[in-house]
Amino acid sequence: MYQNKVGGRLLAVGGRLRTIYCLLLTAACLLASGCGVRFDMQDQPRYKAYKKEDGTFFSDHRASRDAPEGTVARGFLKENKALYTGKIDNPNANVQVETTTNAAGNTIVTSFPNAIDEFPVPVTKELVDRGQERYNIYCIVCHGPVGAGDGMIVRRGFGAPPTYHDDRLRNAPVGHFFDVISNGWGKMNGYSAQISANDRWAIVSYIRALQMSQNPEEISKLNGSSTSSAANTSTPAARNPNTPAPANANTTGGRR
Ligand code: HEC
Repeated sequence: MYQNKVGGRLLAVGGRLRTIYCLLLTAACLLASGCGVRFDMQDQPRYKAYKKEDGTFFSDHRASRDAPEGTVARGFLKENKALYTGKIDNPNANVQVETTTNAAGNTIVTSFPNAIDEFPVPVTKELVDRGQERYNIYCIVCHGPVGAGDGMIVRRGFGAPPTYHDDRLRNAPVGHFFDVISNGWGKMNGYSAQISANDRWAIVSYIRALQMSQNPEEISKLNGSSTSSAANTSTPAARNPNTPAPANANTTGGRR
């Protein structure tokens, strides 16, 4: 009886140990399959474009073909210079544009001889809405919700960009903004890799809307001038300059 009791207890202890052992083993297996042995997408069998692989599909073992000579892939011609660069070839303005650096370390330019003044795409409500959405994704972190140069990253120490609401940038042609977004400017990176040309124009149209929303008395003046085609939109002039840009700032006009 006593023997049995001890034996029973030993059995019980042994059983518990076995359970712990099994649990540990399961955990180890789970860990191994979770972290060690995996088959990720980056490891899957695939061909890299133009790379010479072992594949036998093409006789030269390359994974893809060259484009036929003298051809351009659909959508890659980019012959519309104004649309893709914001610039035109200006024979009368073959001048070297001089830039200066201001006290804040920002690059300042005031002449834009080759930048286009007119949007190369129709400025519609949809375009401005799209621009607002893209601006809030890509630009707001530094330039702030209304473009005053006080975005969250700047408040955390990144060098402040200039406000969009000074005369220099208010009068800068749309092509300059497009160029800045495409190629970067001074300390700012270019965004052509992330943002399509059409979306870059959309953002420019939204910047124009922001500029107007912060400067209502300029609207009437802009309406009569050719410096901004976005100015041709029919936004009501009376808007409190202290309110942040409205959700659909200046989206009433659809004309160019
Ligand atoms: C990481 C912060 C950052 C982001 C994001 C950013 N910018 Fe900038 N931007 C700057 C800084 C800094 C400058 C000033 C650079 C200089 O002058 O050296 C600047 C300058 C500019 C200028 C003024 C150019 C001039 O002539 O003075 C424009 C316009 C502009 N940015 C537009 C944009 C737009 C549009 C986006 C979104 C697509 C964007 N930026 C995203 C930091 C940023």
